[in-house]
Amino acid sequence: MIFVLTGAGVSRESGIPTFRDSGGLWEKHRVEDVATPQGFKKNPALVQNFYNLRRRELLSGAIRPNPAHMALARLEREAGEEVRIVTQNVDDLHERAGSKNVLHMHGELLKVRCRDCGKVFSRREDLSAEVFCPSCGKKGALRPHVVWFGETPLHMDEIAALLRRADVFIAVGTSGTVYPAAGFVSSTSARRKIEVNMEPSAVSSFFTENLLGKAGEMIPRLVEELIGKKAL
Ligand code: OAD
Repeated sequence: MIFVLTGAGVSRESGIPTFRDSGGLWEKHRVEDVATPQGFKKNPALVQNFYNLRRRELLSGAIRPNPAHMALARLEREAGEEVRIVTQNVDDLHERAGSKNVLHMHGELLKVRCRDCGKVFSRREDLSAEVFCPSCGKKGALRPHVVWFGETPLHMDEIAALLRRADVFIAVGTSGTVYPAAGFVSSTSARRKIEVNMEPSAVSSFFTENLLGKAGEMIPRLVEELIGKKAL
């Protein structure tokens, strides 16, 4: 089984900024303001606007899957063994590229959750304090279905089971600074552990192979190798 962990770097070439690179999201916004339950309590409009803008960008048409997403979808179709993608990204670019088995451990930008009844809904429009929950009817209770700092990532039991079963572990475009994802490489017993990143991550030394470069160039090559075909 091939386990692929992706981070913001895999979507960089699609035009979505990463968090920690220069020009990244956390240079322009304080994490405490826009990505914590406390920030939301203090200023819900600011937080909703932050995610409204990101949602609009994702749907603008300018952002599309890049060759790394496409190659990972091809890997799932052609590897001849199970491929599972666990992403820290809240965009839907893996799905748009055709990947079927994707777990979003930090949630999804195109989903919202009711803080009152707990139901999750797909939503492409902006959120505000004026919006009613489609299920329980409560006003102003919908929040982005994204995991904020201090909250528990999603699907962790399933991910732990996948890490135990993995033969090959690949991490793409992630700085290795946010746990639990940063700890996956040391908790899996995969025989091959491959890192693909622009620069060594904070956990590079735990990998058996380090491929430095852009995901959009390195991943298609790696996928060729994994499915045992020569580049056309
Ligand atoms: P980061 O912004 O921390 O790291 C992105 C990594 O991608 C960096 O190591 C870059 O060097 C690398 N990178 C940039 N462009 C690349 C490219 N074209 N090809 C390959 N690599 C490239 O993003 P994450 O590690 O995903 O969490 O961040 C983890 C979590 O921190 C996010 O999910 C988010 C954030 O705070 C929450 O919001 C809960």
